[in-house]
Order: sequence, then structure tokens, then C-alpha cells
Amino acid sequence: MKILAIETSCDETAAAVVEDGRRVLSSVVHTQIEEHRLYGGVVPEIASRRHTEQINQVVKKALADAGLALEGIDAVAVTAAPGLIGALLVGVNFAKGLALASGKPLIPVNHLRGHIAANYIAYPTLKPPFLCLVVSGGHTHIIDVADYTHFQVLGRTRDDAAGESFDKVARSIGFPYPGGVHMDKVSGQGNIHAYTFPHPKVEGSAYDMSFSGLKTAVINLVHNASQKGIALCREDIAASFGHTVASILCEKLFLVQQQTGREQIVAAGGVSANSQLRAMLTAECEKRGLSLYLPPLALCGDNAAMIGAQAYYEYQAGNTADSSLNAMATMSIDRSFAEY
Ligand code: KG4
Ligand code: ZN
Repeated sequence: MKILAIETSCDETAAAVVEDGRRVLSSVVHTQIEEHRLYGGVVPEIASRRHTEQINQVVKKALADAGLALEGIDAVAVTAAPGLIGALLVGVNFAKGLALASGKPLIPVNHLRGHIAANYIAYPTLKPPFLCLVVSGGHTHIIDVADYTHFQVLGRTRDDAAGESFDKVARSIGFPYPGGVHMDKVSGQGNIHAYTFPHPKVEGSAYDMSFSGLKTAVINLVHNASQKGIALCREDIAASFGHTVASILCEKLFLVQQQTGREQIVAAGGVSANSQLRAMLTAECEKRGLSLYLPPLALCGDNAAMIGAQAYYEYQAGNTADSSLNAMATMSIDRSFAEY
């Protein structure tokens, strides 16, 4: 089954053709990062406009790269939640138009389910059940993936997402948006023990996390130093901060692992590209005798191939939509579109 997938939830206009959930026939990503960088973050109105301008050619290129015309695909999939509402609507409306014009089924996909499915592309034998750490710019979840379409969130951040805290700390030490990747690049030249940053405590759940207090502690350190004219070493801050974030994520993830007994660990989302996190996950899984699946770097960030991969399993489960489908800015990963 060949699925044409569309992704426009944030600042990437993407389209891909994926066969049977695992084989990528084409994948096109048009990023808007350079333009949003001028403003230090994603400007929703600009994102929607650029998606509108780009989507036609991005979809055409994805079909052409796969050597297919619209008649050659079996279904149209689209990220319908969560994300920037104006940005999502561009993809959802385009996909609805394509599905209607071609008479093909329409498959709505949750963006976070898509991030997890990026691993099905990279690891053809990977199957649920597994425990997944989803770390992106907007979400930080520890999710039990019981089946391809059954998810349970066991731990989550109570405030900032890990990626958001990376970007805000990066900005305070002068890195351009999105700063996570710049922090990662210089962290190897810094000392992880140069600073001791707090591991925020969260009341009520042993598995929930918090990154807001940690982020504020680093930003305060930077501001105080600059007021006193003290020069700080960016590499040391990046190394110590990255180490702290990775430690918090791993501590919670492996607590949940002990409770669930799942033996396959999977990572997903933009922050799963982080080298300190990848190294710590690798070491911890090795120590505990667990199998670890890390998405290749090209599949960590937003793309449509991951949406096409998940769409295949949504289709198998009967999760299609008609032209009444609407985009939603927020949606829990354990809910299905049919419930709305
Ligand atoms: O999954 P993603 O591409 O978009 C969302 O769905 O949010 O994640 C983007 C986030 C940004 O916050 C970005 O700074 C972060 O992932 N990120 C990283 C790295 N690469 C991307 N954070 C830390 N280290 C990286 N290497
Ligand atoms: Zn994403």
C-alpha cells in the first residue's frame, strides 16, 4: 500500500510517499527555519503563509521522486494534530482536497505518533510493544506503546518541553534559533561537571518531569554573570545543561521501564538527535540488557515519511476520516480522531 503523506504542523512543509509503513519511496522537506530565525522562534502567521506557498510544489516533488502520479497512490495521510493550528490547517485542507479529487481514503495522523513511527522506517523488524521517550520542541512524554495504535502516557513534563528548554537556554547564551542543535555541537568541548544544575522535583508522580526551573536556573546564572561582567564558558554551560537534561530524562525513563518491564526502548522527536542523550541511553540500555532503537538523525526532526509510516498502521486499524476532518492544536496521543 502506497501512502502519500503530508506534514505541516510547525515550520517544515513536508510530503512523502511510503510503502507498507516501512519503505520510503520519496521524502521532501522544505524548512522555514532561516526565516523564523530572524524572530528568535517560529512566528505562526509566517509559518501558515509559507506552507500555503510551498505545499503544492512539495507534494508534486514527492510524487515525482517516487515516480508516481496521484492515481498511483492508495491513500492520502496528513498530520491533523497537535501543532500550530493555522499551519496544520494548510496540510489538512490540501490533503482533504487531494483525497476528494482522487477518491482515495484520507488518514489523519497524530504528529507524535508519527515521530514514534520514524523508527519503523529505520528498523524494519521493530514491532510494539515498547517504551518510547518522545522528546520534541513541544512535548516530552514517556509512552507505553502497546500496539501500533494503542498508546499510554506514563510520564510527562509538567511545564516546558525538553526541546523548548534547550532553545531558551541556547538563546540566553547567544545561539540562534533553534538552539538545541548548536548547544549539542559545542557540548563536546565543554565540561559536564563545570556547573551543577538543579534536578527539579515534581509532586504527585514519580514519572513526571519539569524543565522550567532548570531552564530558569541557567538563564539566571547567565544574566547575573553578564551584569557582573563575568565571562562564562558557553561550552561548559552547554555540556552541563545537556548532561542534566539527559540525566533527568533517563532517570524517569528507566523508572518507568522497571515498572512496565518493557525490554525494547525507543526514542523519538527532535531532541532524540542530541548526542549526550543518545550516549546516555546507549550506556544505560547496555547496562540493563535492554534493546535500544534510536532514530537516524535525518528522521529525528519533522518530516512526512514518519507520518506515512504511522498512517499505514492507522489505516489497518480502520482509522480513516471524511471531509469533515478538522485540525486540532492539541490532542493527547492516546485519543483517536474518531472521538472528536
Ligand atoms: O520534533 P521536532 O523537530 O519538532 C517538534 O515537533 O517540536 O523538535 C524540534 C526541537 C527543537 O526544540 C530543537 O532545538 C530540538 O528539537 N533539537 C535538539 C537537537 N536537534 C533538535 N535539541 C538538542 N540537541 C539536538 N541535537
Ligand atoms: Zn515534531
